Amino acid sequence: MNDFIYHNHELTVDGLSVKDIVRQCQTPCFIYSHAGITRAWRSFDNATTHPHLICYAVKANSNLAVLNTLAELGSGFDIVSQGELMRVLAAKGDPRKVVFSGVGKQSDEIAMALKVGINCFNVESEAELLLINQIANHLNVQAPIALRVNPDVDPISHPYISTGQKESKFGIDAQEAINLYQQAATLKHVKIKGIACHIGSQLTTTAPFVEALQRLLGLIDQLENKGIKLEHVDVGGGLGVHYHHQKPPTPNEYMSALLKLNIPSHLKLILEPGRAIVANAGILATKVLLIKQSGNKHFCVVDCAMNDYLRPTLYDAWHNIIPVQQQPQALTQIYDIVGPICESGDFLGKSRELAVKAGDYLAVCQTGAYGFVMSSNYNSRPKAAEVMAKDNAFKIVRPRETLEEMFAKESLWT
Ligand code: LLP
Repeated sequence: MNDFIYHNHELTVDGLSVKDIVRQCQTPCFIYSHAGITRAWRSFDNATTHPHLICYAVKANSNLAVLNTLAELGSGFDIVSQGELMRVLAAKGDPRKVVFSGVGKQSDEIAMALKVGINCFNVESEAELLLINQIANHLNVQAPIALRVNPDVDPISHPYISTGQKESKFGIDAQEAINLYQQAATLKHVKIKGIACHIGSQLTTTAPFVEALQRLLGLIDQLENKGIKLEHVDVGGGLGVHYHHQKPPTPNEYMSALLKLNIPSHLKLILEPGRAIVANAGILATKVLLIKQSGNKHFCVVDCAMNDYLRPTLYDAWHNIIPVQQQPQALTQIYDIVGPICESGDFLGKSRELAVKAGDYLAVCQTGAYGFVMSSNYNSRPKAAEVMAKDNAFKIVRPRETLEEMFAKESLWT
């Protein structure tokens, strides 16, 4: 959270007053720090001299301004849909640095990716391999592919965001992968480029990453013995951030743990971090609507809700909630911070000590990743605004959705 700091008790971002931003843009509103995104990306990039490509996982935050910030740094992108590919292109990203992940790629998505010349498809099944070969044949090109292997490693994270274990829907069983590579080698319209995995998200230790990479390196050896030579190894994303009690490794520690395995120098290392690049570079600013007491419980009702930020509801995620203007002398109270949505699961934080009153602004911290992208119109609430702060200035990079826009495409039967 180095980019959001207090100056004279006032929260600032990249030298700007958050209060000034929210007074102009209204709430709820996501605010991203250009400097924060840049620093986080560079901390991965500077962590090794081994040949590498950082493919930022677009799903974490796909605002064009965020993608463009990363494209300008030279980042690649990990996409999971045609929509994400179009966003990358609109943000001036280089298609030759794009890897395409996901268990259910559709024909039109594969065709578009082939036409723009992406770096690699991370193939997750035999059916997908054959479909890619067929579409590439039709377009008379060769599709670059890697197989996404399921290394069967427990990432020790929330079950909803764990993906690298045997019983998960992701990837190809390690032993079956060898056969599938041999099959791929016989297909005229695919070119084998690498091997990939992604074992989960919000990992807070290096051991599962190391174990997964070890399995991939073992497979690479087996493949070389069978005459199949790879150019890259893609270790996926998943490095966690410090939300509360967790102490995840830094990008440096993470990289040095991976590099201890002596990855051969001809094998380019591909990384797909999402959260670790954008989570800390964003806040969700919200206004206190009212304070309410129910029995012994005190509620602080704010103008953002689970439709704007789903992680507390969906994963029981803990995010720090802080005042935009600190009031050091004011009396504090223990509050549940809740939104206006008609569900008890609609909360941003529970049992938080704050000094607040109606009209104050609060910041839900570390909401740059999996925030706006997971928002919805539930309860017919328009989507929040997104703002980027850079060099003492800010820009609305997506205006708040209007009420009319929200249902403009709906129609009556008659
Ligand atoms: N690569 C692949 C193939 C992925 O599926 C993901 C995330 C990533 C990379 C990036 O992982 P990261 O570095 O961000 O951990 N909505 C959840 C997170 C879902 C992650 C899904 N896959 C959350 O809010 O915690």
